[in-house]
Amino acid sequence: MPDSNMTSGQSKDDQPSAKSQQPKWPHMIVLGNEKGGSGKSTTAMHIVVALLREGYRVGTIDLDARQKSLTRYIENRRSYSTKNSLTLPMPTEMVVPRSKLRTSDEAEADEKTRFEAAYMALAPEVDAIVVDCPGSDTYLSRLAHTAADTLVTPVNDSFVDLDLLARVNPDTHKVVGPSLYAEMVWKARQRRQVADGGTIDWVVLRNRVGSLHAKNKERVELVLNELTKRIGLRYISGLGERVIYRELFLRGLTLMDLKEAGGLDGKGLSMSNVAARQEVRRLVDALALPFRQSKAA
Ligand SMILES: Nc1ncnc2c1ncn2[C@@H]1O[C@H](COP(=O)(O)OP(=O)(O)OP(=O)(O)O)[C@@H](O)[C@H]1O
Ligand SMILES: [Mg+2]
Repeated sequence: MPDSNMTSGQSKDDQPSAKSQQPKWPHMIVLGNEKGGSGKSTTAMHIVVALLREGYRVGTIDLDARQKSLTRYIENRRSYSTKNSLTLPMPTEMVVPRSKLRTSDEAEADEKTRFEAAYMALAPEVDAIVVDCPGSDTYLSRLAHTAADTLVTPVNDSFVDLDLLARVNPDTHKVVGPSLYAEMVWKARQRRQVADGGTIDWVVLRNRVGSLHAKNKERVELVLNELTKRIGLRYISGLGERVIYRELFLRGLTLMDLKEAGGLDGKGLSMSNVAARQEVRRLVDALALPFRQSKAA
């Protein structure tokens, strides 16, 4: 973030040429949604490990210093790998806690400095930085949203979750207007545009989609289609509802590790594990991360 404008500093002139091996600045992938428990940390860890396993160097910044789910996930991974003599690829992790300074001006300046410092410490070492935001509106979270190259917002397939993106008429299911979180992203986009002319690819991830409630799914899809046009987001499929995600957390493993780890507790890979891993691969592909695409080209 060389211009200290809370962006990843990736102006057009800085974009890597198709031939170069490394982007000059790491790609910022920010997991954000002001709703708690939508799957941000779980998805963040799966994206991190999927990229690590493809050979990319990945840094993480945990902005949820109260829960520290992503950091704990990584700590569990380290313990599991030592205990089981497994070599698991690891990201370089950082945590930026909220400021303890009294006045909001001082606290914001302090948080901005520490967020920039974390970015600058990681930038020369990694290809991508994955930032996990808390499930609430904080200044640090807003800084991260402005710096995002790809913003990933997991939502569950329900109108409760969609309420954060848009106000929907309960009878017609038509979008009446944007909601708080969508307005926050809109402001982040404006700040980003002013800072370095950069854009934020906003990807809404439909997480934990079950096979039930087909009618509800259809309605959610209609609303998301409308939002695609109205507030500039695109939506993709995320992770299915699976008990295994809870079990993986305790071991610090992801679906991308199960083959090497011999399955969960050495039980081998089940058909369901393979299908779930495929879901993660599709998710990462659908993010259309430019550094992966230029490598594939
Ligand atoms: N696809 C899924 N299937 C089943 N359980 C899931 C799935 N995704 C997440 N979970 C579980 O739901 C809980 C919340 O997930 P997670 O911590 O990733 O959400 P979050 O958005 O980061 O929450 P917070 O806003 O509190 O930080 C965790 O117990 C996690 O294991
Ligand atoms: Mg979390």
